[in-house]
Amino acid sequence: MAATVSDNLLDWYDAHARELPWRAQPGTPSPEPYRVWLSEVMLQQTTVAAVKPYFEAFLARWPNVEALAAAPEEDVMAAWAGLGYYSRARNLVKCARVVAELGHFPETESDLRRLPGLGAYTAAAIAAIAFEKRAVVVDANVERVVARLFAIEEPLPAARKAIRTAADAITPDMRAGDFAQAMMDLGATICTARDPRCLLCPLSNACKARAEGDPGRLPVKAPK
Ligand code: ADE
Repeated sequence: MAATVSDNLLDWYDAHARELPWRAQPGTPSPEPYRVWLSEVMLQQTTVAAVKPYFEAFLARWPNVEALAAAPEEDVMAAWAGLGYYSRARNLVKCARVVAELGHFPETESDLRRLPGLGAYTAAAIAAIAFEKRAVVVDANVERVVARLFAIEEPLPAARKAIRTAADAITPDMRAGDFAQAMMDLGATICTARDPRCLLCPLSNACKARAEGDPGRLPVKAPK
């Protein structure tokens, strides 16, 4: 049987995953939910490079959700200084207190959505990465990969619905967390916004935009 898109992507991830401080090695048990949650909140609107030192500093100072829940809000705000979007830090403390009270992180997307500061993307990312739940995890990198793979011509943001449907179709039942992070890594390192490196791409044979000759054109953005 022909290998599927997700098989090819997961094989590539096993060899090329970025080593990031909040990740487990590909194919190994999931990282702690606390680490996944903290990193995903920090990574909202912020680059991987900017997040790394903050993630390490938070983890050293507050090694688990109970420790963070017990911290005075002003200490957390001060430690967050420089990362921006400060409502994230306020929600971080609120969320830590709810989770500490509950005694554990919720495991499903819909329960995670109820936590302070968790939107659709973050809830899906945590469900997949920390709990291996099949979830469709779509950030800007994934959006670009999927728009190209399926040659979705509709402009963003209207294309989001079609992109989601297409992303759902290629999401495997197993290794949900690795698949989500493999899509992010592919978008960040190979299927980049300008000059995609198709010769190195594990999905190039399946990619409709590449077959059509100009993958860098997609996704189309509606004029502002
Ligand atoms: N951006 C958001 N979440 C990420 C993750 N888990 N790995 C890499 N980039 C990300």
